[in-house]
Formats: sequence, C-alpha cells, structure tokens
Amino acid sequence: MRKPVALITGANGEIGHGLVDHLCGRDDLDLIAIDLNPFAPEIEHRLTAGLVGDIVDVSLLERLVSEYEIHEIYHLAALLSTRAEYTPARAHQVNVEGTLNLLQLAHDQAQWHGNPVKFLFPSSIAAYGFPDRATKAKHGRVSEIEYNFPTTMYGCNKLYCEHLGRYFTSHYRQLAADRTSTGVDFRALRFPGLISAISMPSGGTSDYAPEMIHAAARGEPYACFVDHEATLPFMAMPDGVKALIDFAAADASRLAQRVYNVTSFSRTAGEIRDRVLEDFPNADITFSPDPPRAAIVDSWPADVDDTPARNDWGWSPDYDAARAFDEYLVPKIREFYERGD
Ligand code: SER
Repeated sequence: MRKPVALITGANGEIGHGLVDHLCGRDDLDLIAIDLNPFAPEIEHRLTAGLVGDIVDVSLLERLVSEYEIHEIYHLAALLSTRAEYTPARAHQVNVEGTLNLLQLAHDQAQWHGNPVKFLFPSSIAAYGFPDRATKAKHGRVSEIEYNFPTTMYGCNKLYCEHLGRYFTSHYRQLAADRTSTGVDFRALRFPGLISAISMPSGGTSDYAPEMIHAAARGEPYACFVDHEATLPFMAMPDGVKALIDFAAADASRLAQRVYNVTSFSRTAGEIRDRVLEDFPNADITFSPDPPRAAIVDSWPADVDDTPARNDWGWSPDYDAARAFDEYLVPKIREFYERGD
C-alpha cells in the first residue's frame, strides 16, 4: 500500500520553513518534500521523506508516485523575480514546466485514488503590471482581474500558472470522449512581499524590506535599491503560512474564485526604514536606487483588494504593521541573531 501524503516542493525556502511546521503535525497525511538543495536539519526531521532534486525531472516525480499516494500539493518551488530576470529560460522551465509537471501529477494521482487533490499555489503581486509609478499611484488597490500585465518573467510565469491551474481544474482535455472530472482542486494566493524573521529571501524584488530589517539587526549598513517613496504591500511570514493553511482548509463550495489576493499592510520604503530605526537606532540605512529593479517595484501595486478572500473563506491577517514589528519581526530577529543562526 502506498502511503497517503501531502507533498511540498521548495520546502527549504522561506514559506516552506513555516509551512512544514504546521503540516507535520497532521495525523491524516504524512509529509514528503522536494527541494533542489539538501534539507535544513530543522525541516528534514519533520519529513517522512525528503527528495533532493529538480521538479523539472519527470523521473524524480515518477519515483515519488511509485511510493506515495499524493492527496495535497503545496507547490512552493520557484525562481523569484530578480533572479528570473538573469536566467529567464531557466525561470520559465522551473516556474512553468515544473508547475505543469505537478499539475499533471495531481491529475494522475486523483484518477488513481479517486479523491480530489488540493493544489496550493503561491502566486504574487508580480502578476500585476503598471506601466509607471503615476498610474500605480492613481489606481490604488487592485482587484484580482485588474492590470494583469506583468513586466517580469516571474510575474508572467505566475499569472500563466494561475490559468493553467484553472484549466486543469475545470477544462482539462475538454474534447476527450472519455473525459471525467480531473480531481485537481487548484487554489492560488497572490501574496504581497513576505517578511520572515528567521530566513532571508533570495532573488526577489520585494527583498529590500526584509534586507533592511535583517541588516539592522546584524549591525550592518544597508543601501536600499528603491527610493523612500516606493510602496508595496507586505505581510509577516506567519500570516503567509496561516493564509495557505486556512485557504487549503476552506470548503470548496465557498470558493467563488481560484485565485485570491491576500495582504496585510502597505508601506513606503521610507516608512519601513523609520520603523526599523525605532528599534535599531544605530542602523545605517541609505537609499541608492537601482533604476531597473526600482521600476519592477513601481510596476507592482501599492495595495491589493483582498475583500473576496475575507468574504469567501474568512481571511484576516493576525499581524498589522505594528504587531508585525512589535510582536514578530523585532523580537524574533533579535533572538535569531543572538542565537547566532
Ligand atoms: N517576493 C517576490 C519577489 O520579490 C514577489 O512575489 O520576487
């Protein structure tokens, strides 16, 4: 008998750290993971199995299904927006082909065991694209269907994969004579910039906020690559994990959409610096904008409308900006560096 499991891809990444903690406590499903890099010890000991490899490698996925019966997939593996601009073809391969492989796997698994396979997909504010800062400022909060004109490879990949997920759930092989329900239950969350106290992002463009805070805690100078006025929505990592868990648990009949915005607080880079200085008064934070990266930030919304998530499945962040800094970021970051991690 194959074991019923939940699968996490990219488990070593920032979201993976918190999500593994939550999922490993479940008694209905064991937890298995794939990551390109060897698993961090605090993750590995919580897994039933961890495979080091590439989601683009179909033989790796075949090995997985020969041993495990997959009921839920948390597909976190991706190349983030800045890194993807340096290797767009590789980003497309990982972000799109990897997702396609996993959607196919979800479909095949549902056919085998006869139950739906939940497919949780972190999408992003990168799925949006404003032409310039003035348009962004004029528009304010965006709904899921506005300004879907991403300017980055990563944003294009995320937006397309949202559509692929919808296709696999509702329209897969729509012309086949033997067409049956696919069993894929795809759910995507468009996250704002996520800020973790215990890990550093790598290769993103919203990274200036976490980089600023972590540099201050380490006592290192930081030159921010956007100017004071650049604005993005952000969320503390525990809320990011909570959003995924709550969304996965939501009754399918309550979900009027497959893709939902979620957010917590919007701030300018200058406001974030000022807040960091309250706790780290000696922090040396300067602004030295890098125009191409700053333009990516200007193409992303300053705020998103997450009313549908609030109405349909009860989304509400635990951490507004004040709580995020006072009760999560500052104490946890201090603890993290005092421990010398
Ligand atoms: N944080 C991501 C990035 O900056 C956006 O989803 O690429």
